[in-house]
Amino acid sequence: MRALTHWLCGRTEPRLFPYSAVLDEFHRVGKHFVEKSLLALLDGARQTTAGRAAGSGDAATRQLTDFLDIALDKWDGRYDYRSYLALRLLRLPCGADDPAPAADPTATRQARDRLLVRLVADTLAFELAAAAHTTELFPQHRPGPAVVAKRCRLGVRAASPALARLGLTGADAPATAGDLHAVASDLAPAGDPPLRLSMLPVHVTHDEYLFIRVLQSYECLFAGVAEELQSAVAALNGSAPDAAVDRLGHAGDLLRAAGPLFSLLATMQPESFRTFRQYTEGASAIQSRSYKLVESLCRTPEADRLDSVAFRSVPEVRARVQGGQSTVDEAYRSAVSDGRLTGPGGALVAQRMAVFAGTLGQWRRTHLRVAVRMLGSQPGTGYTEGTPYLAAVSADPVFTAVPPEPPSAGPTERRCA
Ligand code: HEM
Repeated sequence: MRALTHWLCGRTEPRLFPYSAVLDEFHRVGKHFVEKSLLALLDGARQTTAGRAAGSGDAATRQLTDFLDIALDKWDGRYDYRSYLALRLLRLPCGADDPAPAADPTATRQARDRLLVRLVADTLAFELAAAAHTTELFPQHRPGPAVVAKRCRLGVRAASPALARLGLTGADAPATAGDLHAVASDLAPAGDPPLRLSMLPVHVTHDEYLFIRVLQSYECLFAGVAEELQSAVAALNGSAPDAAVDRLGHAGDLLRAAGPLFSLLATMQPESFRTFRQYTEGASAIQSRSYKLVESLCRTPEADRLDSVAFRSVPEVRARVQGGQSTVDEAYRSAVSDGRLTGPGGALVAQRMAVFAGTLGQWRRTHLRVAVRMLGSQPGTGYTEGTPYLAAVSADPVFTAVPPEPPSAGPTERRCA
């Protein structure tokens, strides 16, 4: 690891860190199999950077700190879902110190939509490069041309709602994976870490790339949904509760429009999944902070759920609930009983809640079907019994104040069945 030794012997400038050389080595064998000697050198780099971070805190130092945090998770024995997905490098929420949602939703919504498009476009670019033999990355279990074509079709569909929200519709909307990649390359915000730093699979199976990017895309969406729900709660608790209509509507739209992401994931080869998941033990979406925030912002979880592995896996969200976090369910009930939410405004809030509940229920059922297909009767990596856990929680009510409105069975749900 000459480049890294050279860097360590020099002025250890974070902006000159040999990312490409380090990534090449991680990619050659998979994160689970990286040589201890390289990890020890990276640990040295981390100590050097920690000294700098305390003093400067500039963007290059922060990027390197975050990268090393993710690269060394297995070495430290703290590998989990958040480090597996490199959420910190994607600037997605992953801990108690996450910033509060911005008052003006437009900029945040657009930033999330851009990230989602870039994640999907990058997935398809990798599929095309592998099919064209222009990359040697992750060579095991490459899919055939029909699967690659299907992935490209589904990926373009999965990105199109976010593109439409960004104003790219009609003739401006990308029609192929190649077009999507071209559009996405203009959407990278200046100063953000390059996307390639957030791809550290544990193994060299081709489909792990797709798996990671789809999970990251959903994390991006859940983070957006959580923010919308937080703002809906604030509106319902305030003097203009009707403002919750837009927030609840946008939360439902985000989740509903994401359906094709599951169709994309459903093209994963179960054999590939079984291969790389041998090395993902301990990283499960049960640790998704944003998903549990969504669940607990809808209504307060019952005591047994709060005390189960589901919420014990996200201690900071559990603490928020125990600290009396307000929810859409109770804020809606109070707004109605106080007489602050009446007439057509009240009916519209209830309708948006019902649609959101139906959409989340549909997400849970589709997730369960994909999990059954990929996992069969194996236990989960989050230490549950696996799909029986998912089946049990998929029928949990989203709200108690309003029943779900059954969403129409869209093409996504039928395809994943
Ligand atoms: C191959 C595909 C997938 C399989 C086999 C799978 C399997 C599972 C299993 C078995 C669990 C239970 C917890 C555990 O023991 O790990 C779980 C939980 C969860 N999964 Fe997945 N999953 C898949 C894809 C996804 C995707 C794409 C997402 C999107 C982020 C996702 C989000 C979640 C969430 C949020 C939970 C926690 C649910 C709860 O605690 O109520 N999963 N998954």
